[in-house]
Amino acid sequence: MGQIAAIILAAGKGTRMKSDLVKVMHTLGERPMISWPVQVAKNAGANRIAVVVGHQAERVREFFSGDGSITFAVQNDQLGTGHAVASAREALEGFKGTVLILCGDVPLLRQETLSSMLAAHDSRGAAITVLTTHLENPFGYGRVIKREGGRISRIVEEKDASSEEKEISEVNSGIYCVSSEFLFDAVSGLKNDNAQGEYYLTDIVKAAAEKNLLSLAYLTDESEEVMGVNDRVQLSVAASILRVRINRELMLSGVTMIDPSAVYIEAGVEIGPDSVIYPNVHIRGRSRLGKGCLVEPGVVIRDCVIGERVTIKAGSILSESQVGDEASIGPMAHLRPGSNLGAHVKIGNFVETKKIVMGEGSKASHLTYLGDAEIGSDVNIGCGTITCNYDGVRKHKTTIGDRVFVGSDVQLVAPVTIGSNSLIAAGTTVTMDVPPDSLAIARTPQVNKEGWKLKKRE
Ligand code: UD1
Ligand code: CA
Repeated sequence: MGQIAAIILAAGKGTRMKSDLVKVMHTLGERPMISWPVQVAKNAGANRIAVVVGHQAERVREFFSGDGSITFAVQNDQLGTGHAVASAREALEGFKGTVLILCGDVPLLRQETLSSMLAAHDSRGAAITVLTTHLENPFGYGRVIKREGGRISRIVEEKDASSEEKEISEVNSGIYCVSSEFLFDAVSGLKNDNAQGEYYLTDIVKAAAEKNLLSLAYLTDESEEVMGVNDRVQLSVAASILRVRINRELMLSGVTMIDPSAVYIEAGVEIGPDSVIYPNVHIRGRSRLGKGCLVEPGVVIRDCVIGERVTIKAGSILSESQVGDEASIGPMAHLRPGSNLGAHVKIGNFVETKKIVMGEGSKASHLTYLGDAEIGSDVNIGCGTITCNYDGVRKHKTTIGDRVFVGSDVQLVAPVTIGSNSLIAAGTTVTMDVPPDSLAIARTPQVNKEGWKLKKRE
C-alpha cells in the first residue's frame, strides 16, 4: 500500500449544538470529538493529516498544537464539502497516494472498518471508495446510486433527490478513500448548481465516471459507526456507544461490571482480570489497575497506577497516584497527586494525602491529612493526625521512620523527623525532631476541679 494522508472536515459551527463552543470541540469520552477521527486516521496509517477549520479555528489549532503530523487548512466561508476539501490542497502539497476524507463530527468510526475499506480501495484500484450503509430512515443523507459490482454512478443529496431516489436506503456516510491525483483535480472542477448552492464533494463520483475511473461503495453493517453528531442528544448517544465498546472489551478480558451502563472508563485505561467495578465509577487518563481489584460505587480515579487485589471503597477520589498490592483505600479517601503508597497500606475514611511516600503495611485509618511526607513501613498514624506542612509561604517535609506509632490528634509541624520505633503520645504537637526508640509527649497536664459543677449551681 502506498502513502496515506487524511483530510478531516471540521469547519462548520454546529448550530444545532446551541453552544458558544464549536461542535467538534465538544467533549466525547473525555476528549474533544475531533480527536477521535484524527486518531482513527493515524491508526489506519495516515502520517499527514490536514484539518479543515473555520469556526473557532484557533481553539482547534490549540488543541493539536505540538502534533507534527497535523497541518491546518482554513476555510473561512463554508461553501460546501467539496470546497472544504479543495481548501486542503496546500496543506497536502506534494502528497501522492491515498487520501482518507473523514468528518470531525463522525466520531465512532473504527480503525478496523477504515482499514478494510482502504484495502478494498487498493486491491480494486478504485479512484474513489465511499463508505456506505443502509439506514431504515435515510432522510437527510446523500443516496447512493449504484451500478453492478459495487460500483457507484453518483450520489444524490436529499434536497436534489427525486421521489424514487429518496426510496433508496443505502446512504453516503461522508467517509471516503480517494486517490490524490484524481481528488484535487476533481474538486477544482466542481460546480454549485444544486438545490443548496454548495460545492458538493459527492459530485466527484460523477466526475470519476466521466473519466472512466472506478468509484466503489464499501458497504458496512455497522451503521452506528457512521453516525454524525449534530446536537447534544446525538452527542450523548455517541458517548454511550463508546462506553458500551470500552466496557464490553474490558468485560470480555475478565473484568466484572455490576452495571456496565453506569461505568465510565476512558479509552486506554487498563484493568486486570477478576477485578470488580461497581456502578458510578469513573476511571480516566492513563490509569492502570492490576488483577483482582475491587472498586466500589462512586470512586473517581485519574492517572493512577493501582496494584493487584487493591480495594477502593465507596466515594474515594484518586489522582496521579500509585497504590501497592492489597492496599485498601477509603471509603471517602482523597489521594491527591504524588501519593505513592506501598503494598498492604490502609488509608481509611476522610483521609487526604498529597505528595507522600508510605511504606508497606502502614496505616492511616481515620480523619487525617498527610502532605509532603515520607513515611516508613508498618507505621500507625492515629485518628486526627495532621502534617502541618505549610507555613504560609513554603511547604516543608515530614519524615517518619519505620514502625512509628503516632497517637490520635497529633500535629506534626514540618520540617520534622520522627526516628524509627518511636511513639508519639495522643494530643502531641511535635515541633522538634524525635530520636529513634523514644516517647514524645507534649500536653498541658490535666487539672480536675472536684465539685466545680455543684458550686456553680449554688
Ligand atoms: C454530507 C454529504 C452527504 C452525506 C452526509 C453524511 C455532501 C454534499 N453531502 O452531507 O451525502 O450523506 O454528509 O453525514 O458532501 N464542512 C466543512 N466545510 C463546508 C461544509 C461542510 O468543513 O463548507 C464539514 C462540516 O463541518 C461537517 C462535514 O463537513 O463536519 C459534513 O458537512 P455537512 O454539512 O454536515 O454535510 P451534509 O450536508 O450532512
Ligand atoms: Ca450541508
